[in-house]
Amino acid sequence: MPDTLTITDNRTGKTYEIPIIYGTYPKYGAAIPAMKLREIKVSDDDFGMLSYDPAFGNTASCKSAVGFIDGERGILRYRGYTIEELAAKSTYLEVAYLILHGELPTDSQLEEWTWNITNHTMVHENVKKFMDGYHHDAHPMGILVSTIAALSTFYPDSRNVTDPEERSRSIYRMIAKMPTISAFAYRHSVGLPYVYPYNKLSYCGNFLNMLFKMTEVRYEPDPVLEKVLDVLFILHADHEQNCSANAMRSVGSSLPDPYCSTAAAAAALYGPLHGGANEMVLRMLREIGSKDKVGEYVKRAKAGEFRLMGFGHRVYKNYDPRAKILKEMAPKVFEVTGKNPLLDIALELEKIALEDDYFVKRNLYPNVDFYSGIIYQAMGFPVSMFPVLFAIPRTAGWLAQWQEMLVDEEQRIARPRQVYTGYDTREYVPMEKRG
Ligand code: CMC
Repeated sequence: MPDTLTITDNRTGKTYEIPIIYGTYPKYGAAIPAMKLREIKVSDDDFGMLSYDPAFGNTASCKSAVGFIDGERGILRYRGYTIEELAAKSTYLEVAYLILHGELPTDSQLEEWTWNITNHTMVHENVKKFMDGYHHDAHPMGILVSTIAALSTFYPDSRNVTDPEERSRSIYRMIAKMPTISAFAYRHSVGLPYVYPYNKLSYCGNFLNMLFKMTEVRYEPDPVLEKVLDVLFILHADHEQNCSANAMRSVGSSLPDPYCSTAAAAAALYGPLHGGANEMVLRMLREIGSKDKVGEYVKRAKAGEFRLMGFGHRVYKNYDPRAKILKEMAPKVFEVTGKNPLLDIALELEKIALEDDYFVKRNLYPNVDFYSGIIYQAMGFPVSMFPVLFAIPRTAGWLAQWQEMLVDEEQRIARPRQVYTGYDTREYVPMEKRG
């Protein structure tokens, strides 16, 4: 079977043979190099054919070995390992190492990696000063985005993105400082003093410490909740070429320091159609108010009044495997925290939607954000912190995508094309003749 595609241009009758590029195996995707389309022209001065793909619905922007999603079958893997197995057997820091380095760490590699992350958790004291300038009701995601960008000013050497050692330092710093900045943003919003990192605790234990420590000498994280948070972090660590990963790669392709690129990725994540959806799910469940109002609410969503938050996905046309894990994990959390009353509304909403023709026809299933919010809320996180809880673990994924892009010789500055639909050249209209 020849690995080519033959295209006939019916305008000219010419045929073109275009090579096919495959992923690891043909089943992992086949694509044509879009630049080859440029050869398709009606005349010599014709620009050549472009492919038109708003919102990148069917365009591979890169080759990547980090993550893989089979949306039809509801499969997610990081570096070849299934999300189910990683969630059951690994820790978040192990998974972050895997995503960034391609292999699970050995004992000594994990020890060194953990030491490096743990010893970069402090932020410069000046960070506290400008954080104090935000309004008390500032959304923590706004604080997070701008503070990540501000780190750029503390580490000017990080602009040297072609130096692997410098990149490595930035990676340690970023993964280490995300929980610290996020916790500071939360403490600022509730008017509590900032809590410094306590390096004897685990990554998630320390995060809980910085968020919730009050007057006790030592904060002891609840081991069940610490573990649940760690699993949540694993589930959110990467999701291949989504909106925020694309922002990371796109901004990073002009070679700014990684703090600015990560701030851009976090900003992309903030939107309600992406990582901001978990916050919106909770607001939606509160708005519905009780189980008996679910049917009416679904009707309004079907009528196009709004979307059901936490439902649907560009890639998954099946149950999001992350949502499945979360649904199973929820009872474990509620044993410690008490049941979240919103769970019954969520279960009813899922049941009605999954049986409804509108949702069935469009393959709209619950996504990761549907159950994560209910768990976060039961754990005591305020709703506005939910997108932040997505951004912290996703940092590993963003950085892996960024690093992969930087060393990929086929990548250049990201610069899409357009199909121009505006005026042809026009004669200038002087002021007295306008209107
Ligand atoms: N509720 C009701 N209808 C929906 C929904 C929804 N949540 N999502 C999609 N649809 C409908 C949409 O109206 C369209 O219908 P029609 O064909 O009649 O016009 C059809 O399904 C296809 O929708 P689309 O907008 O073409 O799909 P997309 O791939 O562009 O959007 C999405 C994907 C996730 C933005 C969308 O499903 C959505 O807005 N969901 C709600 C927000 C949400 O939960 N986002 C979190 C995504 S998972 C976390 C992450 O990785 O970011």
